[in-house]
Amino acid sequence: MGKQINFHSDDEIEKCIITRLRNAGCVFAEDETKLLISEARTPDSLAVMVDRRVAGFPLEHIIGWADFCGIRIDVEPGVFVPRRRTEFLVQQAADLAFPGAIVVDLCCGTGAVGTALTVFLGWLELYAVDIDQASVQCARRNVTSVGGNVYEGDLYQPLPTKLRGRVDILVANAPYVPTEAIKLLPQEARKHEARVALDGGTDGLDVQRRVASEAPIWLAPGGHLLVETSQQQTKKTVEIFARNGLTPQVANCDELDATIVIGTRPFL
Ligand SMILES: C[S@@+](CC[C@H](N)C(=O)[O-])C[C@H]1O[C@@H](n2cnc3c(N)ncnc32)[C@H](O)[C@@H]1O
Repeated sequence: MGKQINFHSDDEIEKCIITRLRNAGCVFAEDETKLLISEARTPDSLAVMVDRRVAGFPLEHIIGWADFCGIRIDVEPGVFVPRRRTEFLVQQAADLAFPGAIVVDLCCGTGAVGTALTVFLGWLELYAVDIDQASVQCARRNVTSVGGNVYEGDLYQPLPTKLRGRVDILVANAPYVPTEAIKLLPQEARKHEARVALDGGTDGLDVQRRVASEAPIWLAPGGHLLVETSQQQTKKTVEIFARNGLTPQVANCDELDATIVIGTRPFL
């Protein structure tokens, strides 16, 4: 008997992918399908991409980029995918920054926050740091594309000492998930993002404490530290800031479910 040949229309392929993604629990199956089809170079690569998505890989790791603040940010496997909620951190920092400001993006991951800020403000003197090698590699592509500098290391340790006392804006979306809550995260985060990107220690605030304690050394008088936190952790984050001599202020965005604590170094 001759081999049966099946011709599938583009519509049939699209419907089949939507069904597979829906069955795998993808909430935005239609949108994701369109994106996968537009990103795939060949039918074979489309099939591989769909299989990976069905297996639970984050969409951004599969297509290699994330839409953050309307900007295309390169993302690599294992690297923290910039979240919609973090766009509020960018908005808050943009309100306080000015063209030419010295900005440090600590715990930069892909470098999305510093990159977006630079795009919005036109020009910044941007320094980004991450401890994770894969993140640094990824950040180098995003951050250097807007003229910024990227360093690998532990928080402030790799920064040039000439920045001490001169930083206008210090943004740090540090890991803030309490260790015990990691197991409750969606599998996309738990399995496909580095532990160091998520785990903030017993109460989730270990890295924030370290960021805040050294911030007064690096901030210019009147300079600001901005961190993302959760609503439940806000009170503690505010206390940490105040204990380190930073004047704290809280900003919330219900739409993005985002909370930012801003600490300002007093002029005197
Ligand atoms: C929650 S992710 C945020 C990434 C990025 N800022 C964003 O918003 O998309 C936290 C990042 O902090 C980095 N990190 C954790 N501990 C660090 C440390 N001690 N020094 C520098 N980076 C650190 C992780 O590698 C990860 O990329």
